[in-house]
Amino acid sequence: MKGIFPVDKFMEIETPFYFYDTSLLSKTLEEINREAGRHDNFRVHYAVKANANPKILNVIRHYGLGADCVSGGEIKAALRSGFPHDRIVFAGVGKSDWEIALGIDNDIQCFNVESIPELEVIDEIARAKGKIANVAFRINPDVGAHTHANITTGLAENKFGIPMEEMEPVIRLAVNMKNVKFRGLHFHIGSQILDMGDFEALCNRINDLQQQLERHHIIVESLNVGGGLGIDYHEPDRAPVPDFKGYFNTYARFLKLRHHQTLHFELGRAVVGQCGSLITRVLYVKDGVSKKFLILDAGMTDLIRPALYQAYHKIENISSDGPMETYDVVGPICESSDVFAKAADLNCSRRGDFIAIRSAGAYGEIMASQYNCRKLPDGYVSEELNIDY
Ligand code: LLP
Repeated sequence: MKGIFPVDKFMEIETPFYFYDTSLLSKTLEEINREAGRHDNFRVHYAVKANANPKILNVIRHYGLGADCVSGGEIKAALRSGFPHDRIVFAGVGKSDWEIALGIDNDIQCFNVESIPELEVIDEIARAKGKIANVAFRINPDVGAHTHANITTGLAENKFGIPMEEMEPVIRLAVNMKNVKFRGLHFHIGSQILDMGDFEALCNRINDLQQQLERHHIIVESLNVGGGLGIDYHEPDRAPVPDFKGYFNTYARFLKLRHHQTLHFELGRAVVGQCGSLITRVLYVKDGVSKKFLILDAGMTDLIRPALYQAYHKIENISSDGPMETYDVVGPICESSDVFAKAADLNCSRRGDFIAIRSAGAYGEIMASQYNCRKLPDGYVSEELNIDY
């Protein structure tokens, strides 16, 4: 065992694979329930897009979170894992007809609607089924977030949501439709946000919008502020459970919630990010012209975040206690961007050593691909390997 990793148990498993520490996941969920539970009207949904491994979904469902889905496949995964249908919300800029029908057939809690044409299709499909679908409008709040440009979503230039200026006419349109029921407003400004000031800015914007709607006697039952709370990729062991207290308190302090309103959150990364690592083995140590390459059996097909977003993930050799050496850590895929880290310091490494790529529980396994005809990585939870921390 080195750190949190049962290296002896890993010997029997084909690499690369994802390893999830379910005791950390449970601790994280307990903290979410404790901190959100201090506020009567806060409700937390899990953003299934971060990790839909059924073993992970099962644990999350057990702690009573709802599910935030962005496709029919995610709705099916949530239902299969036992999430109650009336705790499932469905978002996304491009919902297909069959996905909308699936949501209506299963009487999901709410559709987070992103355009007028989408609203019309939901109304039409609900009418054909003789049902009424709950809808909330995703409003683009034009609030920036201090995060990577590819994961910022709340700016006017992004494709997401309905512009603020169109909010009122769209609500009026919905109120006059027979087969949809207007329930609330939905926002999401981006992901991997560590600056609470960004969430505060969202609160201020929502306060203004609420005032504007109240002047026109429009009642909003629920507000959904999306997700976005970040994790510490640089020091995953420093505070493995994110600062949920600070996060929920920011909303409690700055958002002027009306007494009849519920406030919904859709957290993904902060729930599952730190509990997962990609476990891989060193295939070769290769001497380059001016550097050493550590060639792993995992590549960008298993964890695409470094290649796609230049994201940092801490890398550790969990088989070696040798002196530190500097390596470029790369995968076997035929792409120059298949690099996990440049000039990373690791314990002196040899062929066969186990390497852990940390903080990979969110947007890791679920974003894996079969490029180069590779096998998708499996995910194992600590319980399955009989590990008792
Ligand atoms: N709600 C909505 C409407 C979202 O679009 C997202 C994430 C979430 C909630 C959950 O956000 P979280 O709490 O996980 O930040 N693949 C990227 C992240 C994409 C996030 C997309 N939307 C990455 O690996 O960093």
